Amino acid sequence: MPMMVRARRFSTLATTLAIVVACTNARCAHAQRKGGKQDTSYGEVIITEISYEQASPEDALVTEIAGSDDWVELYNPSKTLTVNLTGFALTDLTARKLKKARPEKVAKHLFVLPENTVIAPKSFAVIARDEMAFREAYAEREVAIGALVRGSFRFGLSAKGETIRILDRSNATVFELKYDDKGTWPNTREAGHSLELVDVRQDPNDSYSWIASSENGGTPGEVNSVAVSW
Ligand SMILES: *[C@@H]1O[C@H](CO)[C@@H](O)[C@H](O)[C@H]1NC(C)=O
Ligand SMILES: *[C@@H]1O[C@H](CO)[C@@H](O)[C@H](O)[C@H]1NC(C)=O
Ligand SMILES: *[C@@H]1O[C@H](CO)[C@@H](O)[C@H](O)[C@H]1NC(C)=O
Repeated sequence: MPMMVRARRFSTLATTLAIVVACTNARCAHAQRKGGKQDTSYGEVIITEISYEQASPEDALVTEIAGSDDWVELYNPSKTLTVNLTGFALTDLTARKLKKARPEKVAKHLFVLPENTVIAPKSFAVIARDEMAFREAYAEREVAIGALVRGSFRFGLSAKGETIRILDRSNATVFELKYDDKGTWPNTREAGHSLELVDVRQDPNDSYSWIASSENGGTPGEVNSVAVSW
C-alpha cells in the first residue's frame, strides 16, 4: 500500500519540484551523501515520523489537519519480513525509571501495543496519543487511519524534545532516539508540521536526518513527503 501512495505523492509536478528544491539545501545534501554510502539497519522497527506540535482546532479553516494530538509513525524497513509488535511498547521513560518509578507513573508513560499489531514489509503503523482525536483529524486520509494502532499512548511528546524508546516483550530497547527543537533540529511549529526522517538508513539521533514535513499534518502511514531514499 505505501508504494501506491508513493506513486500518487510523486505524481504531480509541483510535488516533484518541491522535492528537488528541498534537496538543494544542506540537510538534503547531507542525507544523500550519507544515504548513498550507508546501509545501516537501525533495527527491525524504526520511528520515521514524529508529530509533537499540531495546528490547533482554531486553525482548522486554514489548515487541512488540526487537533490530532501527538503521534509517532513506526516503519518496518525489511523487504521480506513482517514484524509482530504485539506486546512491544512505546515509552518516554528511561530504563532506570521504568524499573524504579511508581507503577501508576509507569502505567502512564508506557504504551503496550495491542494484540495483532503487525507491520508488513516496508509498511507503517501509527500510534496516537489520543486515538479518537487522531481519527477525527485524519478522517479524510484513508492511509493514515488504516495504519492507526488501537489505543492511545496518553503521555505527550514534549515540544522541547525528549528521548522515546520502543521496547520488546522483555522490555529490552529495540529502538531509541532523542529528538529536539533546538539547534540544527527542524522547526515544525508553524501550522503543525511533523518531523520526518529523510532516509530510513540514516542515524535517527542526528538532527540532519530529519526535516519538517512539507505538508501540514505530515504523512502518517505513508512515505514521508521529504523522503530522499526509502
Ligand atoms: C504476534 O505475537 C503475539 C505474542 O507472541 C502472538 O500471540 C500472536 O499470535 C502473533 N501474531 C501473529 C500474526 O503472528
Ligand atoms: C516491563 O516493564 C513493566 C513496567 O515496569 C513491567 O510491568 C513488566 O512486567 C516488565 N516486563 C517484563 C517482561 O519484565
Ligand atoms: C540514539 O542515541 C541513544 C543514546 O546515545 C542510543 O542509546 C541509541 O541506540 C541511539 N539510537 C539509534 C537508533 O542508534
